[in-house]
Amino acid sequence: MKLLVVGGGGREHAIIKKLKENPAVETIYALPGNGGIAADAVCVPEIGAKDIPAIVEFAKANAIDFAVVAPDDPLALGCVDRLHEAGIPCFGPDAAAARIEASKVFSKNLMKKYGIPTASYEVFSDAAKALDYLKAQSFPIVIKADGLALGKGVLIPTNYDEAVAAIKSIMEDKAFGDSGNEVVIEEFLTGPEVSVLAFTDGVAIAPMVSSMDHKRAGDGDTGLNTGGMGTIAPNPYYTADVAKACMEEIFLPTLAAMRAEGCPFKGCLYFGLMVTENGPKVIEYNCRFGDPETQVVLPLLKTDLLTIMQAVEDERLDEIDVEWKDESAACVILASGGYPGSYAKGKEMTIPATCAENVTVYHAGSALRDGRLVTAGGRVLGVTATAPTLKEALTQAYAACETIHFDGMMKRSDIGQRALAAMEK
Ligand code: AMP
Ligand code: GLY
Repeated sequence: MKLLVVGGGGREHAIIKKLKENPAVETIYALPGNGGIAADAVCVPEIGAKDIPAIVEFAKANAIDFAVVAPDDPLALGCVDRLHEAGIPCFGPDAAAARIEASKVFSKNLMKKYGIPTASYEVFSDAAKALDYLKAQSFPIVIKADGLALGKGVLIPTNYDEAVAAIKSIMEDKAFGDSGNEVVIEEFLTGPEVSVLAFTDGVAIAPMVSSMDHKRAGDGDTGLNTGGMGTIAPNPYYTADVAKACMEEIFLPTLAAMRAEGCPFKGCLYFGLMVTENGPKVIEYNCRFGDPETQVVLPLLKTDLLTIMQAVEDERLDEIDVEWKDESAACVILASGGYPGSYAKGKEMTIPATCAENVTVYHAGSALRDGRLVTAGGRVLGVTATAPTLKEALTQAYAACETIHFDGMMKRSDIGQRALAAMEK
């Protein structure tokens, strides 16, 4: 079989490595892919993940049997709709279902209409009205740009002056472009965060192993928000009781709500949850695999990934028994110094040619220059280890990081520490 994966980060590398385990897979094309993915797939750097017409043309010209659209932008732009029109089976939601991530106003209204637990909120398309409302609120409060904003569209002002600055930046200065035409202002919730990715064909659902992201740049959860500096799985806060409540109050009602709205969700639905005193609540939905959650979740998958993805596409996920290894995984991100601010690119990397069987180096911001791997992004590599316990997985992931070098390499040194502490309680 010939497969196509749209995207070019660590998440896509993890998907490609897993898809390759199926012996029926002959070739995987990555559009655009990256320098490290080139060792596992045929990369096509000329075709970007948002170039939908070129992606569809490529899929037709190369007789692709199955496509996986991984990033949010092409999903929101209708990449799956266009591939389906061209007769190509694929994994991922259509544009109507991708609104669950692409529009926060859509997802908040969906949750309110169908009684799915989430922070209470108001929507504003007028900056003056938003400011008026904020005058009577208590802080901190959460302000979200409606549309996609590279994970940066959430601001949490701690007083009225900061809130004024946030509204001005999103709605008047258009810091996130048209994504800020509307804002959601919502209640600030507290509690541990849990990410749950789930395979769903619109009706049946198979939640994956839970995970925990580490979004802030610095140790102790300090510094700026990033795309994610490391992940662990499973997440100790996702107990059997929490999982049961999530299935009954959040997962199944969300799928039913999407069907009732005429946009059933097929693909990987990501539930960003907060376990509050009043039970689990939805912080956000993503219409795709998380990055770097995928780099700890897929290594724990026992069942063949392509088989699951085809069952999702054919709407027969209920026939598949999705199984997971009873182990833990940890992923430490190696980033370029300065990230998430400005950083250097083009630094040569040294990575051992082989590593332990339970360790995988996923490439995110990496490129090939004259046949050598160089840095090409903020998050450069994700080093994942799996082991019987979280503690061992962390030790081995960090040990593997010590064998990798590039100028300005930066990482958090406390990935998984909060989870370990929670497990010891
Ligand atoms: P998001 O981009 O929606 O994942 O939001 C980024 C981060 O902002 C989340 O991971 C949370 O840590 C935080 N956040 C978002 N919404 C809320 C909320 N209602 N209460 C507290 N924190 C929030
Ligand atoms: N790691 C969070 C995300 O993929 O949005």
